[in-house]
Amino acid sequence: MTKPSNGQSNESVEQNISFFRDNLETYNAGIQKLDTYVTLRKYINDSIQGVDNLLDIGNGGVFDYDVSLVNKIVGLDLFLDKLPTSYICPSNVTLKTGSALDIPESNETYDGVMMVMLIHHLIGKTVESSIYNVEKSIEEAYRVLKSKGKMIIVESCVPKWFYQFEKLVFPIAERIIDKIFKHPATLQYPASILKNMLEKKFDKIKIIDVPLGRWVMIYGLKVPTFITPISPKIFIAEKI
Ligand SMILES: C[S@@+](CC[C@H](N)C(=O)[O-])C[C@H]1O[C@@H](n2cnc3c(N)ncnc32)[C@H](O)[C@@H]1O
Repeated sequence: MTKPSNGQSNESVEQNISFFRDNLETYNAGIQKLDTYVTLRKYINDSIQGVDNLLDIGNGGVFDYDVSLVNKIVGLDLFLDKLPTSYICPSNVTLKTGSALDIPESNETYDGVMMVMLIHHLIGKTVESSIYNVEKSIEEAYRVLKSKGKMIIVESCVPKWFYQFEKLVFPIAERIIDKIFKHPATLQYPASILKNMLEKKFDKIKIIDVPLGRWVMIYGLKVPTFITPISPKIFIAEKI
């Protein structure tokens, strides 16, 4: 496949910034309260055990884990220099502005890199460029990880049939969503696709199924899980 070089679309970047900056409080309240994310928090806490210096990419000023389990955390997102002055940052966290596709960090800096619910937001103009963006973000994470470092991806995955449907409607859906919704367009992937991408670079890949609660947030709205095909998963891999 020829790799498109256009990366994340301007619309995706702009809508991610405006939606997650302007709705930080409401979004965070959902993450802290809704049952699916409360369960997820326990699993993420387990997965960050042993990490001393963590890069949390796509952090958005939100922590669905216990920050006291890690010595030093850098949160990276597109808009973290634009948080309101009232925002209280945990004392062991430094917030930085930058993209998952071009991480503003030196090679081999962290012993843990994590992406919580980021992957489906790396949307390009086409399905192919969106896939390329995910690959690029994994390559970038690999670059800034130390040897034997831990890569943790927390992502809401979808069955293959739903992905086929998403791909089919993407060209139209992406345009309509950009016009109608404040929330950015997204594209969710089956676990097998993310596993294949990780296998190109990483070793000892473990996939953990996280049980759904009764509620999730989709496009910023509280939605009952029984109407969605999503399945939260945690991928844990080691840098070779
Ligand atoms: C669903 S939110 C997840 C926030 C948080 N990690 C959590 O656990 O809830 C997706 C986040 O990805 C961020 N994002 C989107 N594109 C990004 C990029 N290229 N680089 C870094 N962050 C990005 C958005 O700004 C948003 O904060």
